[in-house]
Amino acid sequence: SNHTLIDPFGRSIDYLRISVTDKCDFRCTYCMDEDVTFLPRSHILTLEEIVTVAQTFVKMGSKKIRITGGEPLVRKNILWALEKIANTDGLEELTLTTNGSQLERMAGSLFNVGVSRINISLDTLSRTKFEALTRRDKFDQVVRGIDKATQLPFKRLKLNSVILKNHNDSEILDLADFALHRAMDISFIEEMPLGVISHHDRAAAYISSDDIYTQLSSRYTLEKSNLKTGGPSRYYDVDSFDNKIGLISPHSHNFCSTCNRVRLTAEGKLLLCLGNEHSMDLKPTLRDKNANIETLKASIHSALSLKPERHYFDLNEKPQILRFMSATGG
Ligand code: GTP
Ligand code: 5AD
Ligand code: SF4
Repeated sequence: SNHTLIDPFGRSIDYLRISVTDKCDFRCTYCMDEDVTFLPRSHILTLEEIVTVAQTFVKMGSKKIRITGGEPLVRKNILWALEKIANTDGLEELTLTTNGSQLERMAGSLFNVGVSRINISLDTLSRTKFEALTRRDKFDQVVRGIDKATQLPFKRLKLNSVILKNHNDSEILDLADFALHRAMDISFIEEMPLGVISHHDRAAAYISSDDIYTQLSSRYTLEKSNLKTGGPSRYYDVDSFDNKIGLISPHSHNFCSTCNRVRLTAEGKLLLCLGNEHSMDLKPTLRDKNANIETLKASIHSALSLKPERHYFDLNEKPQILRFMSATGG
């Protein structure tokens, strides 16, 4: 029907991830080079165009929208767009993925405009390692932002930690403790090969979710949880804590058969899968004076036929996907 998007593999697509900018105030070594060039402004969708796409997806059955970047909170006037999207009839939740740098200042407004859950990236608890990893000395600022967010009644807050062997795999238990003692969930992520990055050997840094699980089991009793957020995390209940530990395992436990999502890049391309290049450029339609919402719906419908069955990542080959994580928000 006109109200649900079904892909060629029978999966219903009711989750849209929107990257609102490719810019970021960090330079994480596994995500981008220090001298990265960002897209020129004219290539980026306006906030009005982003809101139009979001509202159209909700009309087509999307229940969940996640705002990503780059770092979404460095986009000027982003609160205006978030409020518009949050108030769209039919949307069940508006969520955000952020590096946390702006949260101290913005957490209150994010709650007020209707963001219900926030995922905050944090890969280390060491100031020195944080600076080495992000190439920015903003660890204290991020922790203040996290603490600010935990004082507000968000429905859930989650940390995301990409675990890299010999970088931060010694911190798995400490990161879990940090999250659980702040009443936050935490997901541990296997790194995906997106974009060609210098000074980082992805194969050497690989550590499987099963190894992470083994480490966690030395401190906690983990039981499979019922929690389903519509994302790729497999969640576990932890001892007497109310919060969950999640494992995101693009390499070791493929989750594509339950994929429910597509992505809008900052440039306005609808990306059908994070691990493939298939996309449909919505910008020409958005900027065509003769187009309307029905034209946009038709483009989105036809794009769905391009959605591949799954991603194939191979850490021992050159990355097949040249686009960087910052272009798609993960
Ligand atoms: P919730 O479950 O809603 O809390 O969100 P999430 O964990 O799905 O999203 P988040 O933005 O926090 O992303 C966590 C990690 O999952 C990132 O590394 C994403 O790149 C990865 N991820 C999310 N969706 C997909 C997907 O469709 N395919 C792949 N390969 N990775 C994904
Ligand atoms: N593989 C897996 N996760 C990544 N992230 C950034 N780059 C990668 C990658 N190559 C994470 C960020 C953030 C989330 C959106 O994706 O750290 O937590
Ligand atoms: Fe910025 Fe996130 Fe990439 Fe780090 S992983 S450079 S915080 S977009």
